[in-house]
Amino acid sequence: MKGRVVSVLAGMALAMAVPSWAGSPLAIDGDHFVRDGKPWLVRSGEMHYPRIPHEAWRDRLRKAKAMGLNTITTYAFWNVNEPEPGKFDFSGDGDIASFIRIAKEEGLDVILRPGPYVCAEWDFGGFPAWLLRTPGLRVRSYDPRFLAATDAWFKRLHQELEPLLSSHGGNIVMVQVENEYGSYGEDRDYLEAIHKQIVAAGFDVPLFMSNGPGPGRMEPGTLPGLLPVINFDGDAADAKQAFDESAPYLAGHPKMTGEYWSGWYDRWGEPHQTRTAAVATSAVGWFIDNNVSFNLYMVDGGTNFGWMAGANEENHVYKPVTTSYDYDAPIDEAGRLTPKYMALRKLIGAHLNPGETLAKLPASSPTMAIASFKLDTSVSLLDALPALSKPQSSVRVRSMEAFGQNHGLILYRKRLDTNVTGKLDLGPVRDLATVLVDGEPRGTLDRRLDQRTLDTPLKSGDTLDLLVENMGRVNFGSAVPDEYKGLRHEVTIGKDTLSNWQVYPLPLNDLSALPFHPGTDAKGPRFLHGGFELAKVAGGSFLDMRAGSQGHVWINGHHLGRYWNIGPQQTLFVPAEWLRKGHNDVVVLEMGARGPADLAGLTDPIFATH
Ligand code: GLA
Repeated sequence: MKGRVVSVLAGMALAMAVPSWAGSPLAIDGDHFVRDGKPWLVRSGEMHYPRIPHEAWRDRLRKAKAMGLNTITTYAFWNVNEPEPGKFDFSGDGDIASFIRIAKEEGLDVILRPGPYVCAEWDFGGFPAWLLRTPGLRVRSYDPRFLAATDAWFKRLHQELEPLLSSHGGNIVMVQVENEYGSYGEDRDYLEAIHKQIVAAGFDVPLFMSNGPGPGRMEPGTLPGLLPVINFDGDAADAKQAFDESAPYLAGHPKMTGEYWSGWYDRWGEPHQTRTAAVATSAVGWFIDNNVSFNLYMVDGGTNFGWMAGANEENHVYKPVTTSYDYDAPIDEAGRLTPKYMALRKLIGAHLNPGETLAKLPASSPTMAIASFKLDTSVSLLDALPALSKPQSSVRVRSMEAFGQNHGLILYRKRLDTNVTGKLDLGPVRDLATVLVDGEPRGTLDRRLDQRTLDTPLKSGDTLDLLVENMGRVNFGSAVPDEYKGLRHEVTIGKDTLSNWQVYPLPLNDLSALPFHPGTDAKGPRFLHGGFELAKVAGGSFLDMRAGSQGHVWINGHHLGRYWNIGPQQTLFVPAEWLRKGHNDVVVLEMGARGPADLAGLTDPIFATH
């Protein structure tokens, strides 16, 4: 695609087709935005409702506004809001309408990006995992089964947000169609179908499409009639280059950076990512000087709580994203105002649109230490199985999705009834398998390292357990459509195929019935339990997980996410909103040999790669 020669005329034709939208306060007038009839620069920051506890939304939105922004951009996360087919959930941290309403109350316009694909380092790029229950269904394509599901999503989302559209007096001023499709494919029919569905659902505000810069991505990723915007990072020189190389597509349009990456995300086992304030202010200064509207991705990154972190696949190597989505954003994971925030506020505050004022600087969010506390009861995951799952019989191993499961772990159990010789071969492992024989861990097989086989003695009468953890579905690139989890191929030992399994889906949604017993001596993958008292909740905290190997933590029933001592993230963010005065309950699922006996909360995160 990249080298494709595209005629300037084709770009001009696209440019001419963009209409202006009456009725909405934000409109396009030739090559600039107007709001209420006056020239307007959109200065947006990206913030994602499921990445911040809903109780903190107003605080974070107010901080974004006080940085000098006038707009918030968010994706709508399909897999958050339709967790099971036809069962929509817009409650709690999924209450997108409340998020947008609060933004309005705080004086912010909203740019909505309803996908259906969102990328975003989010499990499966925002697609609900249940789509994979339909054999052969292909996401992001002109597959009628997929398009029936996207149509239902857009319609229900519109029902939720209709009064908030600017055409109805609300603050949603623009809506994005798909997401960076130009980096993915060339299926015009699919792209047109998504566009038509969004229009037909009733999203009657200016529509736009965002793509990487340059003809190679803009040509396949742009539809005529829709405003094209470009996504990139770097400094003023990079910004200039991105706009120069995209010029044929942008001529005659308001110029806008749909995502300016003011930071970057981390992946397990790789160095922690940061981007300097100097680079960000260089680019933003260029945007302002050149009348380029922009969206800072992210202004506040937040956290991939629960199971929702995504993953990349690069050159066939699987690279899961960390729990923290701090993103080195101007507002940090704990809601604190960073030097980058201050630098951007100073710059932006000096260049507001006529009639705008810079809001008062809010106080930064406090964090607190939590004194060391003991984990004092435990139960092995195998002993806890009856409290967690009902087994299902299956002749062959099948994927997690085939058992109706979206997230978590899945256990495949088999009692060997004949003597076998040779290597144990699981086929492709999605994503981290612990092999246990009669309850004893024998080894792990890691998708990141393309490990599938284990040389371990096995004999008739042994109980073989294959415990497989979903580490996050790939959210970017050609691997996305086939992101099933668990095991799906044949499991063999030497020449023998193993059949007749007992399968335990372990979504771990409810840990209330775990049969803990005193002491922390449970073996193998195990749950550890403890707690601490707080006289007062004085802020959020960072739980120090350096004594652990790999696993998950729940506090007062809230799933903080995954920890892994390979880093770079060594601490797990605990939102103040999830802590309480008095007793706080902690459950840890530790998968490795080395586990924590006690834990403590820190005032700052630790990033270190091992
Ligand atoms: C792209 C996507 C975003 C996000 C960023 C990287 O621009 O559109 O969703 O994945 O990359 O953080």
